[in-house]
This record gives sequence, C-alpha cells and structure tokens, in this order.
Amino acid sequence: MKTIDLALLGFGNVGKAFARLLAAKKQELLEDFGFLPRITAIATKKHGVCIDPDGLDDQALIHLLDNGKPLDLAVLDRTGFKGDTYEFIRQAPAHVLVETTPVNPHSGLPALDYLHAGANQGLHLITANKGPVVYGFRELTALTKQHGRLFRFESAVMDGAPIFSLFRGPLAGTKILSFYGILNSCTNLLLDRMRSGETLEQAIAYGASIGITETDPSNDVDGWDAAIKVAALSNVLLGQNLTPMDVQPTGIRGITPDMIALAEAQGKRWKLVCQGGWKDDGYQVSVKPEMVGPESPLYTVDGTSSYVSFELDVLPGLGILETNPSPKTTAFGLLADLIDIVKSETT
Ligand SMILES: NC(=O)c1ccc[n+]([C@@H]2O[C@H](COP(=O)([O-])OP(=O)(O)OC[C@H]3O[C@@H](n4cnc5c(N)ncnc54)[C@H](OP(=O)(O)O)[C@@H]3O)[C@@H](O)[C@H]2O)c1
Repeated sequence: MKTIDLALLGFGNVGKAFARLLAAKKQELLEDFGFLPRITAIATKKHGVCIDPDGLDDQALIHLLDNGKPLDLAVLDRTGFKGDTYEFIRQAPAHVLVETTPVNPHSGLPALDYLHAGANQGLHLITANKGPVVYGFRELTALTKQHGRLFRFESAVMDGAPIFSLFRGPLAGTKILSFYGILNSCTNLLLDRMRSGETLEQAIAYGASIGITETDPSNDVDGWDAAIKVAALSNVLLGQNLTPMDVQPTGIRGITPDMIALAEAQGKRWKLVCQGGWKDDGYQVSVKPEMVGPESPLYTVDGTSSYVSFELDVLPGLGILETNPSPKTTAFGLLADLIDIVKSETT
C-alpha cells in the first residue's frame, strides 16, 4: 500500500468538497488503485493553516465540515506553523500540492507563483484554477517535468468532465480543428431565468441566493469566465498563447426582456456561445450571445449545465454535456488528476 500525502492550498467550496470525496472514496482508492490519500496540510487566507505530518484527523475534519465550522487549529494542527503561503508550500509534508484559490483572470497571480513554488519544491501539482492554466500551462508543465512530476488541471474547465485527459488519452493522435459550446454555467442559468420572465437583476439575485453568482457577478455576466475558459482550451489543446483579453468577450448584459421575447417568438433561445478554432484567416476565438434554434445541441443545455463540441480531423463532431455540476463534480476532477498522477508513478 502506498500513502500519498496532499497539501491543500485553499479550503473553500472546492477544497472542502475534495476532502469529503477523499474520505468517502478512501477504501475504493485503496482497493482499485492501491493507494491511500492523506491530507497532511491545509492553508487558507483568513481561516488559518494546519499541518500534521501523520495526516490530519479525518474524523475531526469531516465533523468540522458537517457543522459548517472553520478549521479548528487547536484540534488539527500539530506543528504550530507560522509563516506565509510560500513558507507553507516549503514546509508542507506532501507529495502533491492541490491548489484551489480564487481565479485572477488578468494574470493568474498569485496562484501561478504558488504553483511555481510547489514545482520547485518537487511536488506534483493539481489545480482547479483557470488562471495558472492560461498563464502558466507550458512553464508549469516543463518545470514539473524537470523534477519528474506532473501538472494536472482537469477541473479548470467543465469541472469533472474529462476534457484535457481525453486528448492525452483516448483521443491522443487526433488534431482539433475547432470547438464551440456553453462554458459558463452561471450565465446559462441567468438566461434561463430571464426566459421565465425575470430581469437580469432579478436573475442575478436568484443566482446569488443559491450560491451560483458572486457578490460582484461581472466576471460571469460580462463574459470573462467564459473567455478565460476559451483561452485555456485554445492554449492547452490548440497550441495558442491567448489571454482572456485576446478573446474580447461580449457578455449577456445587453440582452433585454424584449430580445428574449423575440427569440421565443421565433422558437429560439439566447445562449452565451464560446468558440475557438482555425478559419481561413487564421485562429479565431469569440464569446458572445447568440440565438440558437432547436436544431442546435446548445438549445436544450439548461440551468447550470455546460457543453462543448470538438471538430477533429478524424471525427467531424464530438460533444460532451455536463449536467448541473456541483463542487463535488469539481472535486472529482481533482481526484481524477490525483489518480492519473499515482498511476504515472507506478508505470
Ligand atoms: N466552485 C466551483 O464549483 C468551481 C468549479 C471549477 C473551478 N473552480 C475554481 O476552483 C477555485 C476555488 O473555487 P472555490 O469555489 O472553492 O473558491 P472559494 O470558496 O472562494 O475558496 C477559495 C479558498 O482559497 C483560500 N485562499 C485565498 N487566497 C489564499 C492564499 N493567498 N493562500 C491560501 N489560501 C487562500 C480561501 O481562504 P479563506 O477560506 O480564508 O477565504 C478559500 O479557502 C477557483 O479558482 C475557481 O475558479 C471552482
């Protein structure tokens, strides 16, 4: 039996869901893949840091999560750690750094620097954060490789749906010509709500009440979250070097109730459509609202679901639909990366 020690950088929705998933799947991971995951360190911004080289007390951690309590340093921490996030990365007794801090669409920082530090420390890297993927995919891949380690980021786009691993594994050897889809769940939900008669403001208030939209929803509403995902797919899968600014997204702020009604009258629906690919005049990307009819696979992508379709040199169309994901789905993306890393060490 192999024990894999994990340092979690960030312990919000996704970090907590990952801790729960690991606890729930521990026995399965042992039986199916021969390893036992062990969380040895957790760092947050305002809720403290805890480290236990023998593995944090699972039961205590789950008890805290179940009761919605913050990290209890007195119960969990065994080292009395004092220091900043870089010192945490230096001292964390771990094989893998799992990074789930907030995204910065303009630079990928500071997460990019944290992952850099983790790679230099000889750790495998897993992130759910799109920022470091867009701004540091090549660099972090090369740096981890120098140390005989891997950089994985499956949950950065479409949560737990296998997008990046699909092209490393079963679809290796194919060439992607283009992709299109709905990559931002929040705006998809907002447009659905507007179709049922709400204004954008009312839809945003509903999204906030169920934890889908943030206090400042502009990242989603103005198309930046979709743009960073388009940049991530373009950079990793189609060899580009784009930033979200290159995508110049148009969000859904300009969609009025009249426009929704007009689309309905024509039997169509507004969707925030993401695209990237090779055209006659070179590589093109876009994020913009479009009216789609029932003939489009995007028409029935409802609520917080998302969808991507790839055009490949050997397959004219391959679509992947993810229905109503949650942080647990994102946590599965992190777990899939972890299994990939463990398998790489045994092959
Ligand atoms: N939510 C999803 O379903 C989803 C899906 C796909 C991808 N993602 C990506 O996953 C990441 C995490 O999302 P989330 O929803 O879990 O966010 P979240 O709930 O806001 O949690 C972020 C965590 O990062 C911690 N943090 C922030 N700055 C830090 C720093 N400098 N050092 C150490 N910890 C720091 C925060 O600490 P405090 O607890 O002290 O604030 C918090 O624990 C984001 O990049 C997001 O884009 C999320």
